[in-house]
Amino acid sequence: MNEKELIRAALEARKRSYSPYSKFQVGAALLTASGIIYTGCNIENAAYSPTNCAERTAFFKAVSDGNYKFQAIAIAGGPEDAETLTLCAPCGVCRQVMMEFCNPKTFRILLAKSEEDYEEFALEELLPLGFGPNNLKE
Ligand code: THU
Repeated sequence: MNEKELIRAALEARKRSYSPYSKFQVGAALLTASGIIYTGCNIENAAYSPTNCAERTAFFKAVSDGNYKFQAIAIAGGPEDAETLTLCAPCGVCRQVMMEFCNPKTFRILLAKSEEDYEEFALEELLPLGFGPNNLKE
């Protein structure tokens, strides 16, 4: 996996954030098992609750294209006027969406400030004891 390429794609996607209410811009880049990168940004709404996070935008684009297996996601977020980014961790809802499609031990989550500066976690670190499809199997 090319971490820098994935982070660059997240930073580019962040530029397309539609966030007139929070002015908090997030971009995500999701790497499928087959090596395709799907990007996403947060998309806000005047009614607030229909807002979709960058991570879920990327997942839903990928799944709606027929991709169900993923290696990693890079996330870059921060206020629109921020000169430097701090780490932006995925919300609980997005972690649960990851749990639906990703192996919690091997799926990698890259929280990026820049192409060079990022921290990496496994899904199971950010969602311990997560409930997923395997819990519904006998
Ligand atoms: N947001 C994301 O897109 N991803 C995250 O990981 C955290 C939060 C968005 C939702 C909302 O548009 C804005 O950031 C402020 O919460």
